[in-house]
Amino acid sequence: MWPYPKVIAHRGGGSLAPENTLAAMQCGLDHGYHAVEFDVMLSQDGIPVLMHDPLFGRTVAGEGGVATTLAAELLQMDAGSWFSPSYAGARVPSYAQAVRFCQQHGIWMNVEIKPVPGYEEETGRVVAHVSRELHAQGEMLPLFSSFSFTALMRAKEEAPEIPRAYLIDQIPANWRDALQQLDAVALHTNQRHLTASLAQQIKAAGYGLFCYTVNTPERAAEICAWGVDAFCTDRIDLISANF
Ligand code: G3P
Ligand code: MG
Repeated sequence: MWPYPKVIAHRGGGSLAPENTLAAMQCGLDHGYHAVEFDVMLSQDGIPVLMHDPLFGRTVAGEGGVATTLAAELLQMDAGSWFSPSYAGARVPSYAQAVRFCQQHGIWMNVEIKPVPGYEEETGRVVAHVSRELHAQGEMLPLFSSFSFTALMRAKEEAPEIPRAYLIDQIPANWRDALQQLDAVALHTNQRHLTASLAQQIKAAGYGLFCYTVNTPERAAEICAWGVDAFCTDRIDLISANF
């Protein structure tokens, strides 16, 4: 059984707000969403921050990248102006700030561990360690997911009690082995490549099944009819939080 919310705001507020910011999560809340997916990577000094791209240039201005910049500098960066002037001044949040925001507002988290290439082990270990410190006993834990098998294995070693989901664009033939090794609760996959037959096999094996990124109610209804438990969306304006 899937104990988590069914519909999750992708990168905070989907396409309605600058991704991976607290302003995006507030936008999700304003649309009735109490479940969020966001991306976490490590600064040069090993502090987890919310960011999708390893290199600057898209959501934050400038040259360089996350793995070669100190957290103090990253947290001052404007992550809102690229999206619209009305979001100018929205900062890159630390993972700790994001978790506190979610805790204050009762938002459940799918934490995507997004290592800069080459930092898989460290990112998995640190995000798990920090998560363990941030989450009080009895609170609903986040769900980790990652395209990096290595990062998830390290997260498992560091904080085995925090559940894990294997995130994969196209489901490989050895998906059962991967999920078993990770002791994962779910498989997260691209809705584009999922078939009804694969969905049925994954559910029959007892795993949760989550899709990214589902942007129409029609497609959401179709994959849910296949047995998909949950999905994230960029269209929090089109798909109701209680879909
Ligand atoms: O976690 C689902 C989805 O966010 C994975 O892709 O590139 O949007 O982080 P991406
Ligand atoms: Mg993501």
